[in-house]
Amino acid sequence: MIDIHCHLLPNIDDGPRTWQESIELAGMLSEEGVEIAITTPHWIKGSEWEPESNRVEEMVCELNERLAKENIALKVLPGMEVGITENLLELVKNGSVLTLAEGSFLLLETPFMSIPYGIEEIIYTLKASGIDPILAHPERCREVHSNPKRLKEMIDLGALIQVTTSSFLGYFGNEAKECATNLARCGLVHFFASDAHSPNNRPPIIKKAISLLDRLLGDDGTRLIKETATQIIPHDSNITLE
Ligand SMILES: [Fe+2]
Repeated sequence: MIDIHCHLLPNIDDGPRTWQESIELAGMLSEEGVEIAITTPHWIKGSEWEPESNRVEEMVCELNERLAKENIALKVLPGMEVGITENLLELVKNGSVLTLAEGSFLLLETPFMSIPYGIEEIIYTLKASGIDPILAHPERCREVHSNPKRLKEMIDLGALIQVTTSSFLGYFGNEAKECATNLARCGLVHFFASDAHSPNNRPPIIKKAISLLDRLLGDDGTRLIKETATQIIPHDSNITLE
């Protein structure tokens, strides 16, 4: 299984604080059945979380080396969880922000209160240039709870939806749980991901969520969602899934 959204690098955002925590968290992901994790540190323009792409790539290399030494069977690839801002296409093209696994998919952070004005144009512009935007955890957004049609409009424009596994289990409240469940029932969960942040505060909770999804969608429904994530890894990459 591929986890397309998690925070595994130390001291770069609100994820792990030390390499030891990173390794512990990676071990937990592996135990939850993840073989490939795309680590997605926050990138928010003008904030303290605006890491340089090179730094993220270097840290991913170091993490993979450390995991190999610890015999943890997890391969980590670079990505970012990008805060919605102007000129996103430019930022992708000039390498300021990283797409997932350096392919064509871009993970966008859905704000928790309201959806920014103009997001439809951003989605349209990215899609027209061959970038596939994925909205991270929209089930946690208040505007989506009160006006689900807005999310449907974005999906119709080509946005893909990533729901966080722990949302299905109620870790982010009843509204997020209900929204996640409704999206799954409507076939609008394109990806699920752990959005794990740390071994203690926000560990990955995947297996329990998959059991619940199996009951909701059937084994085939869950398997299809898992398989969709393999499309994120570029064809010319030398990464293979067992
Ligand atoms: Fe995240």
